[in-house]
Amino acid sequence: MGSEPVPPPPIEPYKVKVVERISLPSREARESALVRSGFNLFNLTSEEVYIDLLTDSGTSAMSDRQWAGLMVGDESYAGSRNFRHLEEVVRRITGFPEVIPTHQGRAAENLLFSLLARPGSTVPNNMHFDTTRTHVMRNGARAVNLAIPAAYDSQDPHPFKGNVNVPRLAALLADPQVKVPLVMVTLTNNTGGGQPVSLENLGEVSRVCRARGVPLYLDMCRWAENSFFVRAREPGMSHRSIAEIGRMTFDLADGATMSAKKDGLVNIGGFLATRDPELAARAKELLIVFEGFPTYGGLARRDLEAMSIGLEEAMDLEYLAHRVGQVAFLAERIAAHGAPVLRPPGGHGVYLDVRRFLPHLSPADLPGQALAVELFREGAVRSVEVGAIMFGDGESPSPGETPLELVRLAIPRRVYSSAHLQYVADVVGAVWRRRERIVGMTMTHAPEHLRHFTAKFAPKPAA
Ligand code: F0G
Repeated sequence: MGSEPVPPPPIEPYKVKVVERISLPSREARESALVRSGFNLFNLTSEEVYIDLLTDSGTSAMSDRQWAGLMVGDESYAGSRNFRHLEEVVRRITGFPEVIPTHQGRAAENLLFSLLARPGSTVPNNMHFDTTRTHVMRNGARAVNLAIPAAYDSQDPHPFKGNVNVPRLAALLADPQVKVPLVMVTLTNNTGGGQPVSLENLGEVSRVCRARGVPLYLDMCRWAENSFFVRAREPGMSHRSIAEIGRMTFDLADGATMSAKKDGLVNIGGFLATRDPELAARAKELLIVFEGFPTYGGLARRDLEAMSIGLEEAMDLEYLAHRVGQVAFLAERIAAHGAPVLRPPGGHGVYLDVRRFLPHLSPADLPGQALAVELFREGAVRSVEVGAIMFGDGESPSPGETPLELVRLAIPRRVYSSAHLQYVADVVGAVWRRRERIVGMTMTHAPEHLRHFTAKFAPKPAA
């Protein structure tokens, strides 16, 4: 056991009204599920999983108010009042006048990058998420990650490991050989451990972009969690509300893409928001081709209503304190077993440091996948590799910026109790104690795009 202080479980600021039965599949069922799935946890059925920490996206429990919102869906094809409500809420939260609903975040990315990314251009980000990076590349552009060096050290205690390396961004924008159609910053930095970006850093990014006339877009999926960290960690912010900090954040940017499946507390939904009326007009034309009319964007109008309510609930301080508290609770309970977690814990999940967990495996052994498979084998806990498989098909990184090799335990919002999280910590602990006997994996089927979703694997023979 480690010597970390073990925090008490955070107390839920809600009570339960509806439950869903779950149960632990037998060891034999787990083994056969692994074989059937090609050792890819995306191929498991949900009944084969006990505690599902694959993603925090679209897995939230909606509130009674959101469910009530579904009943006031105005299912008009055009001009629905639920769209006007969403537009009002998003304008108030972000200050962006143009609001274009989409069925999820990547649909908003498709609009933005189809319109702005050009072949041969470069799109910087603190760290591109997998879908963002794929949309940039699909349009012939280069996706560059410009996080600060601390982001690449899993043990660095920097309070804002999502920050952008501003000198490098400035140098990139000053290079006459490089065309940058937009700069993106991801709040929080999911790929780097759910780490926040400070307002100070974003202010510098904004100044550099404005001086060069380059638009700055935010990937705002987890803007409320980011704002919570700003409030807790950035000097002079503790008296401000999440709404105020959010608005200070958006004031620095020109627009945003949103997957409301995260901090919108809904199971489906997203939007593109911008200050640019011309871009908005062109995006709406594309929207009609790919998603639907601009007052529903690929969603039922009732879904827009649930999203409007969820966006407001996500800014509630007690909710956020509990949410971020759950992540910290799980991280410390895992650390108490001695297992290596990325520090500080992020906003939406605990990330295991695979290189420290399985030092006997080489990158060619796909150690992140091997660890995710073992967590499932041990206790039917589903996690996801965030490492060589998710991101290893791109350009080779600069020295000192080898992407982290992580396994993410993402916590769905308002879904699991502290007892569930303690169970997960104990499963990680059990795998940690037998880590030396864990073997590597090989990829037996490797698709071209977003390969982690559909790849197949096989365990390597034990040495
Ligand atoms: N940007 C970030 C930072 C994300 O984390 C995601 C999704 C998206 C964009 C795309 O949004 O799924 O609604 O199309 N992340 C999920 C995850 C899938 O598990 O982290 P989407």
